[in-house]
Amino acid sequence: MCGIVGYVGSDAPGARPQGVVMGGLARLEYRGYDSAGIAIVTDDRERVAMSKKAGKLVNLEKHLAEHPLAAGTAAIGHTRWATHGAPTDANAHPHLAAAGRIAIIHNGIIENFAALRAELQDEGVEFLSETDTEVAGHLLAREVSTGRSLADAMRVITRRLEGAFTLLAVDAREPRTVVGARRNSPLVIGLGEGENFLGSDVVAFIEHTRTALELHQDEVVEITPERVTITDFSGFVVDREPYHVDWDASAAQKGGFATFMEKEIHDQPTAVADTLRGRMDEHGRLQLDGGMIHESILNSIDKIIVIACGTAAYAGLVGRYAIEHWCRIPVEVELAHEFRYRDPVVGVRTLVVAISQSGETMDTIMAVRHAQQQGAPVIAIVNSQGSTIAREADAVLYTRAGPEIAVASTKAFLAQITAVYLLGIYLAELRGNKFPDEIEALLDQLDAIPAKIQRVLDTSEAIREVARTMADERTVLFLGRHVGYPVALEGALKLKELAYIHAEGFAAGELKHGPIALVEEGLPVIIVLPSPRGRESLHSKVISNVQEVRARGARTFVIAEEGDTEAANYAEQVFFVPSAPVLMTPLLSVVPLQIFALELAAAKGYDVDQPRNLAKSVTVE
Ligand code: M6R
Repeated sequence: MCGIVGYVGSDAPGARPQGVVMGGLARLEYRGYDSAGIAIVTDDRERVAMSKKAGKLVNLEKHLAEHPLAAGTAAIGHTRWATHGAPTDANAHPHLAAAGRIAIIHNGIIENFAALRAELQDEGVEFLSETDTEVAGHLLAREVSTGRSLADAMRVITRRLEGAFTLLAVDAREPRTVVGARRNSPLVIGLGEGENFLGSDVVAFIEHTRTALELHQDEVVEITPERVTITDFSGFVVDREPYHVDWDASAAQKGGFATFMEKEIHDQPTAVADTLRGRMDEHGRLQLDGGMIHESILNSIDKIIVIACGTAAYAGLVGRYAIEHWCRIPVEVELAHEFRYRDPVVGVRTLVVAISQSGETMDTIMAVRHAQQQGAPVIAIVNSQGSTIAREADAVLYTRAGPEIAVASTKAFLAQITAVYLLGIYLAELRGNKFPDEIEALLDQLDAIPAKIQRVLDTSEAIREVARTMADERTVLFLGRHVGYPVALEGALKLKELAYIHAEGFAAGELKHGPIALVEEGLPVIIVLPSPRGRESLHSKVISNVQEVRARGARTFVIAEEGDTEAANYAEQVFFVPSAPVLMTPLLSVVPLQIFALELAAAKGYDVDQPRNLAKSVTVE
């Protein structure tokens, strides 16, 4: 949830460590924005220089402008999403230990911190914050005071910590070193020329290098300007090949748009096209991005379980309709945090599909591990290259949406649906559910989608206008049926996240079983109308739902397919999207809903990139 940056790069103190770390924090702020802080190793061998402020990064920037820190050789920085302790200056990271000689930052939760804190307090250690992190700093201080190097001290203390952590630390007496450690939280290493970097995500250092290495579970890394040394917690050195990051800094900038959210909504045609590109070989076999699950295993599976959270789970719900229809395999979609606690029936013939933009969602990581322990093969659909879920799954299919910086997911959702479709098409071909020409037709239909998304974007002014009139609404309902149901859920989630308006998505068929009681005079209801070319009865049934809520005073806004002449008879306003095969319509019908939430939140003056209380990547359970 928090963002972490580390840098080391020079013998003589200079301004670059602060510049690199502050730049990295600006790029990582989407991971948490309750407070921010930086520690710099200067030529003072007793104390690191440190500054931290509650609130957004801008508060720290202002403070640094008024109270500059000394030049340095290395630095670490942190943006926080608060878990233990309120978002105050005192609880902001870094935390100091050994009378200011050591500074430490942390992402995750140290579950046994209370016992460790009591132990340290018994030794006379005084705590200055309510955080779990501070115990790690004092444990490090205890170890370096016995003469251990910072890296050795880190290896010792990590063996005592339980829970999830990425830790970075600096020691005023080791001015050319930053040490990091990880368990269950991400840490990536960036390799430079005469300088090296650490970050929660490559975004932290992408403007300086595109050569990266992942730190794996239970490893410690020590970076100096010339060297990167990775060991396990016992000190055994690990060799690791770097990889090239296939996007550059421009992909993580706003590109002329006012917000990342607006930009990412406009990235969607490209995100879908890139996710599709070059996927099938000449035999129609899906090209995975890593690992493999043998075809004989895929042929023998009798059930698929999709595990994911939030928007990614809604992508799974959309995919379920397609996979069941194309492959005739039962598909369950399970929220990752519920999955392993309900004793799910999973075995070697269950294919588990883990969907995650970040690849670092702790609930999904834990669900993947649980599934693997039961013997299930796991395929990951992930956006972040080299992330934990991508590495731990048996096979990975990357969505190629590029970095998604806005906290609310948009382009990752469309790319995830596209990737699930690819998986479904592949399984249908492999298991003989579809003939080659049918497979080709499906792929052609998918190839036509990016241009259609572009048309939705080009004609979005009407929904923007309506959104701007709704700033005072307190509740908005979303209805959908069949593949329109997950679209309604996603539309409601976007509105909650961005505009802080109470929004509910319902299966339209459920309306009369209860939710219709919510309808009152003037309530806005947004309905995703099924294609009239699909199952005919569904279209007319949802038209009936539109009439039912309208008859009770609701204002009805309908997302309908171009050419649907009936829709306008029952709606205050209709927003048309291009026609597409029924199963692929979510890739189009969700776009107006994203734009609606964005525009409404902007009309209320909210920060659409960093909505309150949220963090981009939920790396704690
Ligand atoms: O990184 P992940 O895809 O695993 O994240 C899952 C959810 O936390 C995420 O989709 C969340 O619901 C977004 N805020 C939705 O906009």
